[in-house]
Amino acid sequence: TPLSHIRNFSIIAHIDHGKSTLADRLIQATGGLSDREMSEQVLDNMDIERERGITIKAQTVRLAYKAKDGETYTLNLMDTPGHVDFAYEVSRSLAACEGALLVVDAAQGVEAQTLANVYQSIEHNHEIVPVINKIDLPAAEPEQVRKEIEDVIGIDASEAVLASAKSGIGIADILEAVVNKIPSPKGDATAPLKAMLVDSWYDPYLGVVILVRVIDGVLKKGQQVTFMQTGTQHLVDRVGCFRPKIEQLADLGPGEIGFITAQIKDVAQARVGDTLTDTKRPAAEPLEGFKEVQPVVFCGLFPVDANDFEKLRESISRLRLNDASFSFEMETSAALGFGFRCGFLGLLHLEIIQERLTREYDLDLITTAPSVVYEIELTHNGGSIELHNPADMPDPNKIATISEPWIEATIYVPDEYLGSILKLCQDRRGIQKNLTYVGGRAQATYELPLNEVVFDFYDRLKSLSKGYASFDYHQVGYREGDLVKMSILVNDEPVDALSMIVHRGTAETRGRGMCERLKELIPRHLFKIPIQAAIGGKVIARETISAMRKDVTAKCYGGDASRKRKLLDKQKKGKLKMREYGSVSIPQEAFIAALRMG
Ligand code: GTP
Repeated sequence: TPLSHIRNFSIIAHIDHGKSTLADRLIQATGGLSDREMSEQVLDNMDIERERGITIKAQTVRLAYKAKDGETYTLNLMDTPGHVDFAYEVSRSLAACEGALLVVDAAQGVEAQTLANVYQSIEHNHEIVPVINKIDLPAAEPEQVRKEIEDVIGIDASEAVLASAKSGIGIADILEAVVNKIPSPKGDATAPLKAMLVDSWYDPYLGVVILVRVIDGVLKKGQQVTFMQTGTQHLVDRVGCFRPKIEQLADLGPGEIGFITAQIKDVAQARVGDTLTDTKRPAAEPLEGFKEVQPVVFCGLFPVDANDFEKLRESISRLRLNDASFSFEMETSAALGFGFRCGFLGLLHLEIIQERLTREYDLDLITTAPSVVYEIELTHNGGSIELHNPADMPDPNKIATISEPWIEATIYVPDEYLGSILKLCQDRRGIQKNLTYVGGRAQATYELPLNEVVFDFYDRLKSLSKGYASFDYHQVGYREGDLVKMSILVNDEPVDALSMIVHRGTAETRGRGMCERLKELIPRHLFKIPIQAAIGGKVIARETISAMRKDVTAKCYGGDASRKRKLLDKQKKGKLKMREYGSVSIPQEAFIAALRMG
């Protein structure tokens, strides 16, 4: 296709504003799929994605559209993941496009993620075509939303397309707007090959599939290519595109988006953001902006049944085939046995992996407290370490300073819930940066320690605002903090899986909360069980589960006092014995439930 007849665009939207529904409509309208095939949502192809209604992996579909000017255009529609955890993937897919459809729900208006994504899109110099979706809803207020887009985002929305992806209204107008407003790509077919690796995934039949956007030159089947960041070379054995069904092609020219396979076994070798070039005639410089994604949230995953350890190892390895951003290594815990310490891009990422292991691989798992990565400066020029697991915290007198990651969060919330949201942020050590009103809603900007957000901040935000608050964040670097390791002792034994790093100022409240919840969660035993929270050797909170008294004397009829005493003595010994073994059974739910803050 000549460059003038190509349009590359993505759809940006807040979760649930209708991105996938619209994408499906566009595919349907351009004849990519029959009605029957449409009954399945095609772009979100994993079960969990469909159930949760979120898009995890970016996918691209090539559409052939005959426009009103009589010409046929090639439209490449990139589906981008909609959540902050996948921000880097969003950024790469945006870099592969010249424009974006900005989908805003006519009843909900602009939300935190709409903003975050649209700013990224503007940074990539995209032409933005606003689409006001769901105008079929009785609560739709398209004119107010149009004004909101102009006031809040600051782009012209006078020509925003009014649409309903559900009932098919405005679809033709959207396709025309794509052709007329979004610029065609630029590129030089005769220059050395330069192609951006936009995404990669493992397919059981094709192996690792790589999605590319060709910038300059031509990418051909049979070509030897070099991945400039990883430094590896591969022979391209397939070139093609998705319509959304696979179609093999001879080559991909400048401005084109498509896929290749090159007998790559591991997605870790195909890093998002890498530059592909021709091995024989390489480009002088790779494309800018390559970034290796680093996990920011860590937790332990342990099988409930120790016999499932091998199965867990296999399942985790298989998931990792498709997701190079998630990391794992073996871990042993005194309380939980053998398991894995895993790293994730964020909490949603953690939940998705956990859910896939449970559901697709049928594993019962215990997840330990999620933790962020701390930077610890050691005393006596001991250098610095990165701490991924509170259990590995060095001795406090070897620590000079501890730093933790901070984020800047933007929260949108209707006025009536603002008070409780501000209190939540305050309780989580938040620093207010800004508070303004837009279209009847408050926009609060806070700096928060990531540590205070990883547990249940999002859940609390949603429940305090009856689901109306929306939230987005980005990291703003490390800051020193007065942080300490809090251990939880059950029956005087530290339970490593429950230890966590907390701010000294909130340690006591947190510790008391943990002890109270554990008291509820651990069943009574035949002996008394103390539950303590401690910092170093100092106990800061304590609860006791009283013993369950097995009433052995009930069976003794009559008044044989000596026999009664003998029995009581025996019972006491039994108690001691149990205690010596220290065998307190902590139910697995306790591990997760204990970490939810009140
Ligand atoms: P993520 O994948 O989570 O980012 O969501 P999304 O933006 O792709 O939203 P999706 O297309 O899954 O739509 C969310 C919900 O809104 C679904 O229940 C859709 O059926 C519904 N929906 C989408 N478009 C319309 C519309 O035009 N009108 C109405 N009434 N509902 C719509």
